[in-house]
Amino acid sequence: MCGIIGYVGKSNNVGQILLEGLKRLEYRGYDSAGLAIVQDGNLVTEKTAGKIVKLMENLKGYDLSGHLGIAHTRWATHGEPNRINAHPHYDSNMNIALVHNGIIENYLTIKKSLEAEGHKFKSQTDTEVLAHLIEKFYDNRNLEDAVQKALEMVEGTYGLLVISKVEPYKIVGARNGSPVVIGVGDDEYLIASDVAAILKHTRQVIYLEDQQMVVATPDHFNTMTIENEYVEHEIQKIDWDLEMIEKGGFEHFMLKEIFEQPETIRNAIRGRLITETGHARLGGLNLSDLELREVRRIVILGCGTSWHAALLGEYMIEEKARIPVEVEYASEFRYRNPIMEEGTLVFAISQSGETVDTLAALREAKSKGARCMGICNVVGSTIARESEGGVYIHAGPEIGVASTKAFTSQITVLSLLALVLGRMRNISSEEGQIIIKALEMIPDQVSKILETSDRIKEIAEQYHHHNNFLYLGRGANYPVALEGALKLKEISYVHAEGYPAAEMKHGPIALIDENMPVVIICPRDAAYQKILGNINEVKARKGKIMAITSEGNDELIKMADHVIFIPQTLDFLYPILAVLPLQLLAYYIAVMRGCHVDQPRNLAKSVTVE
Ligand code: G6P
Repeated sequence: MCGIIGYVGKSNNVGQILLEGLKRLEYRGYDSAGLAIVQDGNLVTEKTAGKIVKLMENLKGYDLSGHLGIAHTRWATHGEPNRINAHPHYDSNMNIALVHNGIIENYLTIKKSLEAEGHKFKSQTDTEVLAHLIEKFYDNRNLEDAVQKALEMVEGTYGLLVISKVEPYKIVGARNGSPVVIGVGDDEYLIASDVAAILKHTRQVIYLEDQQMVVATPDHFNTMTIENEYVEHEIQKIDWDLEMIEKGGFEHFMLKEIFEQPETIRNAIRGRLITETGHARLGGLNLSDLELREVRRIVILGCGTSWHAALLGEYMIEEKARIPVEVEYASEFRYRNPIMEEGTLVFAISQSGETVDTLAALREAKSKGARCMGICNVVGSTIARESEGGVYIHAGPEIGVASTKAFTSQITVLSLLALVLGRMRNISSEEGQIIIKALEMIPDQVSKILETSDRIKEIAEQYHHHNNFLYLGRGANYPVALEGALKLKEISYVHAEGYPAAEMKHGPIALIDENMPVVIICPRDAAYQKILGNINEVKARKGKIMAITSEGNDELIKMADHVIFIPQTLDFLYPILAVLPLQLLAYYIAVMRGCHVDQPRNLAKSVTVE
């Protein structure tokens, strides 16, 4: 996980450029940070435990001028998050500095043999071996050559950047399993984990593929494989604005992202609905109608919130297209020799497109001959590139660690997929048109729910001191219950459990007393009459009931302690609306408990370790 950024070019202000870029990568990890720049043939470097702002404070008063440098924000995997283990790491003579995102799996073996040759190590990290290996092969003239030789010996994942004070106008980058993007400016290059870090300087980018390297000097760059074969690069233009990744007046990124949902859902359906025939088009799937008709089984893989979206995909696709769907945690799927019979279509769903378990699961499915598609937000991400086709959710950059807008866009896209597959099977054009109409109303309905945020804030005021919450739902609203509970856990460190409402009586009911807030997702859908019984069971045990139900359903006002109304829609689309109050509830409770909403402890936005 970790974020890396490097600069080489005409500007003499490298320190400032790196620190600004690093701030935009902070979502990738934030337990320690550091930077190294080359100045008059010397390596100037500083690192610190803690967040980037601490690094900035430590650097006050430093001369940060120069044309070449690298920086890093860390999420620890090997060695605790302290100053010594923070990146950059150096060779024995402090000629070379290196930042790394990923894990060097065979580092202990390499470390032992380097120690036997006299190399002295300072940190407990896997990364430091890379700096010493490069030193071993370095002739002080050709850094890229030494990096190549070092990488030949390494097993594991890396997105890395290396500089040397002996070659003060050169930066070398390499990628295997961790993202690296090159920003191509005017006599300057920025190389980073994510475009967000370089967007201020250029929109022209190149995504490195696995096993590729880049060597850049202020006026030139080359891409090649780590075996030194020339690689043709394709420059892509980014159309995200910098403002899109700023907070836009909101107190936190998470709140901004919650409020962006009318727009992001609109983007997810834009250009994809065909009103006349009640159909949808998902061109990126790259599958003919015949191929789509031949799909016999679907497997959806994901982690965290994306896994919850996948569960909703199961409900939607099975109901509308009558195709059997299996949803698996990517981390389980990849190690259990899954059966991939003919006619199976696999979807890997991931906001970042970089989650290592999801990527490995995708590769596993591919290796078994399955056709694999991605449902990603980040364009050009590894999962998107390694899939045969797929659907972008177009939610824009999501910075808050807890996923919100990506979730609603994911389920919107899955509803489109259900429509596409359903129309080829048992959905009539009339039913297709009804679905389209309902989908088109969703963005405005989302806005309406967001207008009630003050009401949800009031409820949060009453309950933010509670340390246990139960979330219940039936049918498609069960995954919504899981997602609501996850949001609360992630950002407010409150214990919360999501449960199928009817299963409550097989265990969690024992927890219910007057101190237990129970959030019940119960729109007036096909499961409503059944869930009424479960609401009564909670009430009989004096649990505090917060009900999320459809507008006009006033009967719950008497039964529940609090009722939050959401607009009416089709049964299978209720989850898109029902999750919004839960996102807001989690957000306000976290703020009231004084938690760091955008960067919750122990979590990271993009999990690139298994
Ligand atoms: C991390 C994040 C979650 C996210 C999960 C999967 O755990 O904290 O918010 O849902 O990774 O991420 P992905 O990018 O694959 O959707």
